[in-house]
Amino acid sequence: MSNQPSPDRILIFDTTLRDGEQSPGATLNVDEKLTIARQLARLGVDIIEAGFPFASPGDFEAVNKIAAQVGTEDGPVICGLARATKQDIEAAGRAIAPAARGRIHTFIATSDIHMQYKLRKSREEVLAITPDMVAYAKTFTNDVEFSPEDAGRSDPEFLYQVLEAAIAAGATTVNIPDTVGYLTPTEFGTLIRGIKENVPNIDQAIISVHGHNDLGLAVANFLEAVKAGARQLECTINGIGERAGNAALEELVMAMHVRRSFYNPFLGRPPESEAPLTNINTKEIYKTSRLVSNLTGMFVQPNKAIVGANAFAHESGIHQDGVLKNRLTYEIMDAQSIGLTDNQIVLGKHSGRNAFRTRLKELGHELADQDLNRAFLRFKDLADKKKVVSDWDILAIVNDETQQSPDHFHLELVQVSCGDHASPTATVTLRMPDGKELSDAAIGTGPVDAVYKAVNRVVNSVVDIPNELIEFSVQSVTAGIDAIGEVTIRIRHEDQVFSGHAANTDIVVASTQAYLNALNRLYTALQGGKVIHPQKDKLEAAAARV
Ligand code: KIV
Ligand code: ZN
Repeated sequence: MSNQPSPDRILIFDTTLRDGEQSPGATLNVDEKLTIARQLARLGVDIIEAGFPFASPGDFEAVNKIAAQVGTEDGPVICGLARATKQDIEAAGRAIAPAARGRIHTFIATSDIHMQYKLRKSREEVLAITPDMVAYAKTFTNDVEFSPEDAGRSDPEFLYQVLEAAIAAGATTVNIPDTVGYLTPTEFGTLIRGIKENVPNIDQAIISVHGHNDLGLAVANFLEAVKAGARQLECTINGIGERAGNAALEELVMAMHVRRSFYNPFLGRPPESEAPLTNINTKEIYKTSRLVSNLTGMFVQPNKAIVGANAFAHESGIHQDGVLKNRLTYEIMDAQSIGLTDNQIVLGKHSGRNAFRTRLKELGHELADQDLNRAFLRFKDLADKKKVVSDWDILAIVNDETQQSPDHFHLELVQVSCGDHASPTATVTLRMPDGKELSDAAIGTGPVDAVYKAVNRVVNSVVDIPNELIEFSVQSVTAGIDAIGEVTIRIRHEDQVFSGHAANTDIVVASTQAYLNALNRLYTALQGGKVIHPQKDKLEAAAARV
């Protein structure tokens, strides 16, 4: 077996489309996943975990299309997740087949609590299944990653044996997950060091880490793991993922970028080395964060490190004064390094399509003609209402126009009347799935409530889609009374959450469109059946599907 060369930099394995998509309500459709995958490739991630192909036909299709369209010769490795079963591995193998470089990531739990209660398997059984399934995965691709799930709470001695068996069977990456976000940085570092010292064939595999943020320690844990020898980090954009989420890609990358001289020696480089520690093009970070937030409906908290709205804002007078005198007094990184710009261009009524297209290109968006036409019309409409159209406005329009959810219920008209002496009343007209237009009106406690009630009356007149609104947020894209408002909402149907997002200078219109986007997603899911969960559903249930 050939030795796996230790990479001379840190590999970034992005699992936004798999673990990130396991966030409640973050369900993405195939086109949205492709859009994100393309952006992840521009960002420069080394590996995209594109999904869990056995989970549903939609997941299979998404991984397969990403493999074909994004997994090019010079593109990222495309990875499919699989439990340690033949059916899962076969589905992952078929899904990644079109990629120039495809990976299967197979996993099985190794902690006593998981083996006893979830798997109902003994240590001996898990130790036998692991090399069998790694070897089976090798029949589809040479690039096989193995994860002992809940490694953080596994008996280290048993963990060493499982990892040795996985590597002996051909695993080229061994990933160490802190599945429940339990470890502290010191413990995580010790775990990685223990693996390096006690797994005899560890030099034949790359050590990767995966971790959840239940105690807010995921990023700190990973950085400690890097010091101990981990060379692949599994992370997500904006840190989205199961429960409290995964380690955030942008935080890891910027920590290593800004503090390069601290981390360089752990990779055997002199502290002053200028060579980047990752392959990430940091200028694509902000755009990627917005894209993922808009498409998943997972709102980024304003004080979120690196990509939060306040991350580069200075409120206190003392800070503002200091920054004006010398930026470095209160800023450890430049906003431009993550792709933020304060460029304001005035593109008015008379600006042509070419100027608009050129600006979009500078912002990193090359749209197909049809999308460009729609975005341009929206831009003209906005230029009529706003004096200054900023880059932020343009990005909001483009995101809104190119990130459409299915269009079963299409908004034709929305009108509200409200005020301090009136009952908020809304009238809406929707184009229904059969092409007919239906209208209705409703009174609510406020204009948005009235609109949602009117939409429900129209929709429920033809199909029953019970749902509960669990989150509604409005954010302005820029300062100023004429700013575009971005609305993000989440609705719950039984145990599933669906999100919707829309942008408009009229927040009632944005709210209506966001609600319809969420309803359309829910309607699609009701038609397509339920998705199984890679870690929670029983193996038997999965086997029964084949
Ligand atoms: O959290 C976890 O353990 C996982 C594995 C599938 C790697 O997501
Ligand atoms: Zn996970």
